[in-house]
Amino acid sequence: MIHKEDIDKIFEAARVEEVVADYVTLKKRGVNLIGLCPFHDEKTPSFYVSPAKGIYKCFGCGKGGNPVNFLMEKEQMSYPEALRHLARKYNIEITEEEETPEQIQSNNDRESLFVVSSFAQKHFTENLSNSDEGKSIGLGYFKERGFREDIVQKFQLGYSINKRTAFTDAALAAGHKFEYLAKSGLAIDFNKDEEKPAEENEPAHPSSEKKYVDRFWGRVMFPVHNISGRVIAFGGRTLRTDKKVAKYINSPEMEIYHKSDVLYGIYFAKKEIIHSDNCFLVEGYTDVISMHQAGIENVVASSGTSLTVGQIKLIRRFSNNITILYDGDNAGIKASFRGIDLILEEGMNVKVLLFPDGEDPDSFSKRVSSEELKTFIKENSKDFISFKTSLLMGEVQNDPIKKAQLIKEIVESIALIPEAIYRSVYIKECSRIMDVQEEVLLNELNKIRRKKFNEKGIPASQPSPETPNIEELEEEKRETNTVNAEHQERDIIRLLINYGNKIMQVDSDDVDEDGKPIQLDISIAGLIIHELQHDDIKFENPLYKMVYDEFVSQLEKDNVPDYNFFTNHENTEICELTVDLVSSPYSLSNWEQHSIFIIKEEDILKTSLNNAVYALKSRKIEIMIHDIQKQLKENPPEEEMMTLMQTQYSLLQAKKEFNKLLGRIIVK
Ligand code: CTP
Ligand code: MN
Repeated sequence: MIHKEDIDKIFEAARVEEVVADYVTLKKRGVNLIGLCPFHDEKTPSFYVSPAKGIYKCFGCGKGGNPVNFLMEKEQMSYPEALRHLARKYNIEITEEEETPEQIQSNNDRESLFVVSSFAQKHFTENLSNSDEGKSIGLGYFKERGFREDIVQKFQLGYSINKRTAFTDAALAAGHKFEYLAKSGLAIDFNKDEEKPAEENEPAHPSSEKKYVDRFWGRVMFPVHNISGRVIAFGGRTLRTDKKVAKYINSPEMEIYHKSDVLYGIYFAKKEIIHSDNCFLVEGYTDVISMHQAGIENVVASSGTSLTVGQIKLIRRFSNNITILYDGDNAGIKASFRGIDLILEEGMNVKVLLFPDGEDPDSFSKRVSSEELKTFIKENSKDFISFKTSLLMGEVQNDPIKKAQLIKEIVESIALIPEAIYRSVYIKECSRIMDVQEEVLLNELNKIRRKKFNEKGIPASQPSPETPNIEELEEEKRETNTVNAEHQERDIIRLLINYGNKIMQVDSDDVDEDGKPIQLDISIAGLIIHELQHDDIKFENPLYKMVYDEFVSQLEKDNVPDYNFFTNHENTEICELTVDLVSSPYSLSNWEQHSIFIIKEEDILKTSLNNAVYALKSRKIEIMIHDIQKQLKENPPEEEMMTLMQTQYSLLQAKKEFNKLLGRIIVK
C-alpha cells in the first residue's frame, strides 16, 4: 500500500499535460491544450487537456480523468502501478506499506497472466520462423494455405512444437512461475486440473516425473489480442486431418480472457471499422486473416460461438453497423437469428451477406481478386430484416398458417428496434416483400410492443387506450420512470464541485444600526448545504450522496474541498463523475474560443444556485405529491384517503412557501 501522504505528493507533482504528452502531441488552444484522442481514432482533435484543472477529457469518446486515470486507461495499469509510474517520473520517493497477500495476488495476477501470454506468443512465433520443425511443418502449412509472410507476422502466428512439455519447460527455464502458466491454461497441471490432458491417442504422462503437460503442442498457433493489442489467449489448430482430434483447442476462461467479451481481430480492425463505419463479422480465425490479406481490415470473428451482447457492445464502440458474413453452406443461419435480434435491440443496423454455395470468406477471398471480393460484398449485402423475410418467405409458399406465423416472427424482430423511424421503414419494406397490408403489420407491431411494455411494468390498473397508440404508451412509461430527482441532484453536485469553495456574500437575519441586513461571507458549499439541511433534503443517487456527504463532513472540519479533491479521488466513480461535471459546457466556456455565445456561469452564479436549489426542492416535493397521488388512485379506505389528501394539501402549500423563503435567503 502506498501511503496517503505519498499519494498526495504524487498528485501534486504530476502535471496532466506532461503525462499525456508522453502519448499525444498537444497543441495550445487558449489556456488549454488539444490533441488527437489516444483512446479512439480521429482526424480532428476532440481531446482536451486542462492544466489548470489537472484533467483531460475527450468530447468524442467521452473518456476523461486525471493523470493516474490516464495511465490506467492507456497502459492498462492498476491504480498503484500508475502511482508508482508517476512517482518514478517525478522522482518522488515512496514508502510502501506491506500489502496484504490478497492485494499482491490481485495486482500480480492480471499482469503476470499478460506477461506469460506475451512470452508464449514470442515463443510460438520463434518456433515458426526459427525451428526446423516449425519452419517445415507450421510455416509450410500457412504457405500452403496461401497466407502471405507479412500477414503471418502481423497476426503473430506461431507454432507449438510436437512434444508434450516443450513450451512449459521453456517457460520455466525462462523464469516464469508455474502458477501462472497453469492459470493461463498454457500448462495443464495434473495435480489440480480436472481436464483430461490425454489427447490425440498419446499417454497422458509423457514421463513419470513431470506433473504437467502443455495445452498446445504440434499445432499452428493463433494468438488472440485484446483491444489494446496485448495477447490474452490462444487458439491452436491441429494439422492432422483425422476427425478424432478437435480442430481447434482454445485457452480457457481466465482473469484476462473472458471469451464472451472478446472478438478475434478487434485490435487489427478497430481503425478501419471507424473509418468505414462498418464491421464485418465472420466465423473463424482464418476468415479474419484472409480478409485482411485481401485488403479488407474491418473484420472480426466471434470464434465459433454465437454472438454475445458483450461482443456487440465492443463493436458498437466503433460503429453502429454490422455486416454478418455467412458461409454458403451455413446450416446455422436460422440459429443465428436470435443473436441478430440482440444486435437490433442495441439499436444497431445489421446487414447480412451470403457467400456462394460451399464458400466461406477464407476460401472465396483466395479464389477471387481483392477487387472482386469488395464488389461482391457491396452488391450482395442485404439488410437483415429483408434478408430474413425473403429467406423465410421462400419456405412458406402458399401455406397461410405458416405465413401468419412468419409475419409474427418478422414483426417481433422489427419491434426490437428502438427507433420508431427505422421500425416504420422496415414495416413498409416487409409489407412489400410479403405482400401484406402495412396496417396489418402495424397492428401486430403495436400489439407486440404494448405487450413488451406491460411486461416491463406498466401498472395494470392503467386504463389501456382504446386505440393502440404505442407512442403514447412510451410517453407514459417515460413519465413514470422519470419521477425522480436525478437531474436536480446532479446539478447541485455540479455546482458544489465547480464552485463549492467560492465565497459569496449573503444577507443575514441580523440588521445593523441603519436597519440594513448584515452581510455574511459564506462558501457556496456552506450555503447549499445549509439550504438543503434546512428542509431535510436527502440525495437518492448513491454516488451523488457520497460526494455530498463528503462535502458535509469536510465542512464540519472547516475545510471546503475544491474540484481537485474529487478529480483526484481514489474512488474512480467519483473521479469520473467529477471530470464530467467540470467539463460541462458551462465550466468549459473558455475552452472553445468559438463558442462565444456560452455565458460564463460565474457571472450568473447566484441565479444558477438559486435555480438549482429551487429545482431540487421543488422536485422532491413533486415526488412526494406523486407518491400520494399514486396511493390515492388505489382507492384507499376512507380514513386513509382523508389523511393522504390532507398531506397532499400541505405539500402543495409547502411548495409555495419555500419558494418565498428561498428568495429571501439566497437571491440578492
Ligand atoms: N472453433 C473452435 N473449436 C473447434 C472448431 C472451431 O474454437 N473445434 C472456432 C475457431 O475459432 C474457428 C471458428 O470456430 O476459427 C470457425 O470454425 P471453422 O470454420 O471450422 O474453422 P476455420 O477458422 O475456418 O479454420 P479452417 O479454415 O482451417 O477450417
Ligand atoms: Mn471456416
